[in-house]
Amino acid sequence: MLNIVIFGAPGSGKGTQSERIVEKYGLDHISTGDVLRSEIAAGSELGMVAKGLIDNGQLIPDELMIEILAAKLDKLVDSKGVIFDGFPRTIAQAEALKALLNSRGQDVTAMIELDVPEDELMDRLLKRGQLSGRADDNEETIKKRLVVYNEQTSPLKEWYKNDGKHCYINGSGELDRIFADIVAAIDSRI
Ligand code: AP5
Ligand code: MG
Repeated sequence: MLNIVIFGAPGSGKGTQSERIVEKYGLDHISTGDVLRSEIAAGSELGMVAKGLIDNGQLIPDELMIEILAAKLDKLVDSKGVIFDGFPRTIAQAEALKALLNSRGQDVTAMIELDVPEDELMDRLLKRGQLSGRADDNEETIKKRLVVYNEQTSPLKEWYKNDGKHCYINGSGELDRIFADIVAAIDSRI
């Protein structure tokens, strides 16, 4: 089982590179942002709670997010492994993910950190906002997402270093070069 955490700030390329990783390694992809956006689109109760938080750049509470993730994992059948995109975002979520995988006799294989400077993140997300219409891709919300990332999510780099899983990738530049670096990092751990 290959369990990859793809990690990085908003706009760092987690979704973009996940698609390639899924194709190469045949993994299931769990993007918690996509899960929440589909709940919003469906108008569910969870979607209504999530919308207010996402539009304000804030995280969904850990307890709820961990429950959602566990339910998604439970639904997978005959999985070769999972790429976790946008989860974990807090230390509580990382601990929960480790416990969930350990209870299945598994662990995270590698945590891939995509490092991109903030000015480039802002450019990418503003550009995407014009095309995709994602409600949180406006300057004010992007700034809040970056603050939340720096305060609540970036401490996970140290956490995964201590767990022996952290792999640093320069996330700026050509998509193909970034993907080649990710593949090298994953292959060195399997
Ligand atoms: P989520 O959907 O996870 O959003 P995010 O982390 O803010 O990241 P993005 O999806 O915006 O960026 P990405 O890293 O996937 O980059 P992408 O490949 O799209 O979460 C949204 C919200 O949901 C959160 O704010 C929170 O409220 C909530 N949430 C989700 N998970 C949660 C959790 N676990 N706990 C609590 N709350 C949670 O690329 C971005 C753009 O850049 C694209 O246009 C792409 O084409 C372009 N691009 C990619 N790579 C390059 C490159 N190398 N060069 C140039 N452009 C590039
Ligand atoms: Mg994404």
